[in-house]
Amino acid sequence: MNYDELLAPAAKAMRPSGIRKFFDLAADMPHCISLGVGEPDFKTPWSVRDAGIRSLELGRTKYTANAGLKDLRKEICTYLQRRFELHYQEKNVLVTVGGSEAIDLAIRALVQPGDEVIIPEPCFVCYEPITQLTGGVPVHIATRAEDQFRLTADQLRAAITPKTKLLIFPYPNNPTGAVMSAAEVEEIAAVLRETNVLVLSDEIYSELTYGLDRHVSIASLPGMAERTIVVNGFSKSYAMTGWRLGYAVGPAPLIKVMTKIHQSCIMSAPTTSQYAAITALRQCDDQIEMMRDEYNRRRRYVVKALNEMGLTCFEPRGAFYVFPSIQISGLTSSEFCEQLLREKEVAIIPGSAFGASGEGYARISYAYSVDHLQTAMKRIREFLKEHGWI
Ligand SMILES: Cc1ncc(COP(=O)(O)O)c(C=O)c1O
Repeated sequence: MNYDELLAPAAKAMRPSGIRKFFDLAADMPHCISLGVGEPDFKTPWSVRDAGIRSLELGRTKYTANAGLKDLRKEICTYLQRRFELHYQEKNVLVTVGGSEAIDLAIRALVQPGDEVIIPEPCFVCYEPITQLTGGVPVHIATRAEDQFRLTADQLRAAITPKTKLLIFPYPNNPTGAVMSAAEVEEIAAVLRETNVLVLSDEIYSELTYGLDRHVSIASLPGMAERTIVVNGFSKSYAMTGWRLGYAVGPAPLIKVMTKIHQSCIMSAPTTSQYAAITALRQCDDQIEMMRDEYNRRRRYVVKALNEMGLTCFEPRGAFYVFPSIQISGLTSSEFCEQLLREKEVAIIPGSAFGASGEGYARISYAYSVDHLQTAMKRIREFLKEHGWI
């Protein structure tokens, strides 16, 4: 069989994730210290695990409604109203297999061949390949270090054409840790209100912001709910990556079509996880706060340590990533990370894995214990010294 000829060209052309490549290299190094993974190091809160176990004990092992358990959808609406002033009803909610599936469904439900999808970069790795699989055309906006990697209204205005269908709005941002203030989100909304462009607002890190300002959802601004699909989930806020549960909320006609696709390719999100998630939303505000405080402590430590050793970075106010410049080395971000891994057994991710505009930077996750972070910082400092870069 000539598989090369048989495979769909768009699927064949997909770039493998630059993140995975580093995990694979690190997996063969027993003493490797990884700061590569984008997932909480905490265990899922006990009450949530207990609720999952209880649902199994009660024999709740069947499919749920395609859109998700009614109680869970109701609870998601209550939560979004309580935390982010978003007003949705159950018909506006689709429970998915992680935020990942919600992103996939939103893009597939909206984007037709030739439609342009604006993607601010650096960003999470899935938006571009999914857009390309649908025949859509990714249009990148390179956000800049001097803007602290925020999308500006001028950049957005310049990127919109008559073919623009969708803006991916990924804040708090992976990999930069950038957040958008209420005033900046309003500037973006003001550009969009004059167009037919829809928004996919990826708010998976909405609970992880540091400082006085809470996350502001673009869908909470006047006139924006009707043009926005919000993606959120349980992976990051509740340390539930392995439970694979997320959701999309948005205008009912869009959610209805996304539910049809979900029905065909997934049927329903994992039942045990859905029962557990109800408890997460009802009982875990204090656990979220505890984890956020701990991330904040680590964030301050890592930002200070990196700036002191000459890997300059702005202060990230969201998610659990720092995005320092590695330009003092004169290497590409890939070369820098590969050498660091080989020589000091520390795994961090090249900025270029998150788009061309990430070149010259690296992503460091601080979802690790302080001990682990301290050892890694020590090794990175030695690496810079041994090469004479500091
Ligand atoms: C920005 C962003 N969106 C979405 C996801 C998907 O998360 P999940 O599918 O676990 O909910 C991730 C995971 O790393 C992410 O960083």
